[in-house]
Amino acid sequence: MSSSILLFLSLFAILLFFAESQSFVGVNYGQIADNLPPPDATVKLLQSTTIGKVRIYGADPTTLKAFANSGMGIVIGAANGDIPSLASDPNAATQWINSNVLPYYPASNITLITVGNEVLTSGDQGLVSQLVPAIRNVQSALSSASLGGRVKVSTVHSMAVLIQSDPPSSGSFNPALQQTMNQLLAFLRDNKSPFMINPYPYFAYQTDPRPETLAFCLFQPNSGRVDSGNGKLYTNMFDAQVDAVHSALSAKRYEDIEIVVAETGWPSRGDSNEVGPSVENASAYNGNLITHLRSLVGTPLIPGKSVDTYIFALYDEDLKSGPGSERAFGLFKPDLSMSYDVGLAKSTHQTPAGWCIPKAGVSDTQLQSNIDYACGQGIDCGPIKPGGACFEPNTVASHAAFVMNLYYQTFGRNQWNCDFSQTATLTSQNPSYNACIYTG
Ligand SMILES: *[C@@H]1O[C@H](CO)[C@@H](O)[C@H](O)[C@H]1NC(C)=O
Ligand SMILES: *[C@@H]1O[C@H](CO)[C@@H](O)[C@H](O)[C@H]1NC(C)=O
Repeated sequence: MSSSILLFLSLFAILLFFAESQSFVGVNYGQIADNLPPPDATVKLLQSTTIGKVRIYGADPTTLKAFANSGMGIVIGAANGDIPSLASDPNAATQWINSNVLPYYPASNITLITVGNEVLTSGDQGLVSQLVPAIRNVQSALSSASLGGRVKVSTVHSMAVLIQSDPPSSGSFNPALQQTMNQLLAFLRDNKSPFMINPYPYFAYQTDPRPETLAFCLFQPNSGRVDSGNGKLYTNMFDAQVDAVHSALSAKRYEDIEIVVAETGWPSRGDSNEVGPSVENASAYNGNLITHLRSLVGTPLIPGKSVDTYIFALYDEDLKSGPGSERAFGLFKPDLSMSYDVGLAKSTHQTPAGWCIPKAGVSDTQLQSNIDYACGQGIDCGPIKPGGACFEPNTVASHAAFVMNLYYQTFGRNQWNCDFSQTATLTSQNPSYNACIYTG
């Protein structure tokens, strides 16, 4: 089991987003950090992980050069401040490609250019109306350089482009943005470019800080939420947010456009008045997110595949303004040590032999919710059904032990795969009995 999973993981690209101070050229961003490692060290760090794609704000030359021949797919960005000239002057777009792509490509594997960040919800009507003309000019400049189709062009949205997202099946775009959205969607379809969105279950939790919402946001066992529109069961907020976007695209008959998550994450620290930040919560969110993406279960409306997802951020950014949490989204610290382990290191993330079983004294209600959750993630729960090798003894505790272990073994054998809201523990004693064999 473990060796086949490892092979699988090394083939599957986990995507990651990071920002660097040098990359910030637009007026929207200030200096965000003054202590980040040099780009060469960053490339080495990423190469020690299973991360296969990276996103940078801007197009910093030193960073782009450092990624030459790394094999890493790279997303670069034109800042909001560049949009007026890119929109009004095709030569400005040619110049932008000449300066930021041609000197580095193809050694640096630039795959996509984001033109602007969260422009549609910026409240700047002038900028909104210039967005699609800027995107078109960048696309034309790429085509003139024979890079059309090889380097894609898109833009990044906040979830606020949706006027409604709950339940997910009711997801729809804000009609006030209709004109630009229609032009944009037509462009994305014509050029096979993705629709890029920033879903943050962390912020959803802030607006509804109940314990059951936290479990829902952290991919932890919970009773789930049934979509009243189509009856689908959601067990996590990330899927609900992605599917709300899918529904909004469907409502406009653009469901063929690929969704890319351009940013998502969870802070490991925050101010005392912030709910949600902690190392445990951040590790649960990012670790369970990665496990979920690797499983290729997909979402209720987009089953059987994972949306490309860039995790914000690679590093903590010490100079970011705003609440303390803003400076603590990093998976790594500037000294290159992990903020917490989410199992991205190449091949070394597995724990030694062991099985995952319920802790003593956990209630049947909780264990049943663990069963429902684990069986909803695509593992084979047949053995605990009547006639299965692990049906007897027919108790919740026995069934929970079997599926919790199978979940743990299937999703990477990381310590957070044997968490189940702190109701699970590892054992070195093989729990197998008779014909009921626990994977180990
Ligand atoms: C460039 O990156 C993309 C996306 O990760 C990948 O599919 C492609 O194989 C890479 N190309 C090269 C030459 O490494
Ligand atoms: C997660 O966040 C909530 C809300 O701030 C907090 O009560 C809880 O202790 C955190 N959980 C862990 C394990 O840190």
